[in-house]
Amino acid sequence: MGTEHYEISLLANAAALIKQYVARINWVGFYILKNKLLILGPFQGRVACNPIRIGCGVCGRCAAEEKTIVVRNVHEFDGHIPCDEATNSEIVIPLFIEGKIYGVLDLDSKSYCRFSPVDKRFLEQIAIIIAQNIKRIKDSERTFNNGDIF
Ligand code: SME
Repeated sequence: MGTEHYEISLLANAAALIKQYVARINWVGFYILKNKLLILGPFQGRVACNPIRIGCGVCGRCAAEEKTIVVRNVHEFDGHIPCDEATNSEIVIPLFIEGKIYGVLDLDSKSYCRFSPVDKRFLEQIAIIIAQNIKRIKDSERTFNNGDIF
């Protein structure tokens, strides 16, 4: 991850890595905040809703409250946006760059209560590493702003 030069590539491989190594998930991916909307980013799983307004669904709630939301049963979450009807639980983690929301990392599971406090802490650490690397890439793009960074 530390050697990646492109934001999309980093997010795509991060989603693939999480899908490969985190058990019992049916969807993982990113929504990136642009103009007050969460825009679908790289993901693994079924076709997903796009865009999502701040405050709407679990992702929008996460971005609005700027904190991780763990949903043990999505059918009991008011305003949940279903993308895959097989999903029963969900976790959404915010990604921050310089204290501001950059986007969210969303994981869905067919299992109820899939995401424990340990999973939450682990995924929050992953989100920090991803956000640090996105910042590094953005900083280097500013340095090499002719678009050709090699
Ligand atoms: N369930 C999410 C929408 C995104 S999908 O799960 C991929 C939500 O309620 O925000």
